[in-house]
Amino acid sequence: MPNTTDSPLLPRIVDELAEHGWSRQGLFLPSALTAALAQECRRRAQAGQLAPAAVGRGGGQEVREGIRGDLTQWIEPGQADCCDAYLALMDELREALNRALYLGLEDFECHFALYPAGAFYKRHLDRFRDDDRRTVSVVLYLNEAWQAEDGGQLRLYLGEQGAAHDVPPEGGSLVVFISSDMPHEVLPARRERLSLTGWFRRRGNEPF
Ligand code: OGA
Ligand code: MN
Repeated sequence: MPNTTDSPLLPRIVDELAEHGWSRQGLFLPSALTAALAQECRRRAQAGQLAPAAVGRGGGQEVREGIRGDLTQWIEPGQADCCDAYLALMDELREALNRALYLGLEDFECHFALYPAGAFYKRHLDRFRDDDRRTVSVVLYLNEAWQAEDGGQLRLYLGEQGAAHDVPPEGGSLVVFISSDMPHEVLPARRERLSLTGWFRRRGNEPF
């Protein structure tokens, strides 16, 4: 674990998010923690715990391979030390975002995602039409020695004109963006592609 309270990366992420709506840190995690998380993801996959991801929310959920082909499993506190270390770090990022940008982020949900070779996730927004709690999206990549020819880039559509910017899913790197404003997609990968994908959420607008 890095000494997270002194980490210069958190304020940098906050500033870039405020200025550009997204941020990428090439080396966010020490390689030992990235490796432990990758191993945990593969262990769960081999144990058959990852399931085809659904599209939509609540009763409207369905698995549509034409839209996304990844397998996922939510992580919960207390399951593995490496996951707990990552959740602790995300809590620091949540607090830093709240302090600087008054986002009122209340919690963090995240899942392992495994894209088998050939899988992709078509262009989408992370905020659901019927649930606007997802506010900031965070993707940590777990792929060792990822090469350009392996594909699998995260394509962000930036700005009004929607210029495409491709991010390679390199192990230990982190991408953060505003969930409601950033259309994005995952291009097909030529080898298995692992990530931990999460969302900071605000309190919902429940009527009372
Ligand atoms: C998602 C997603 C991006 C990535 O799971 O919603 O867009 O690079 N993931 O894995
Ligand atoms: Mn997404």
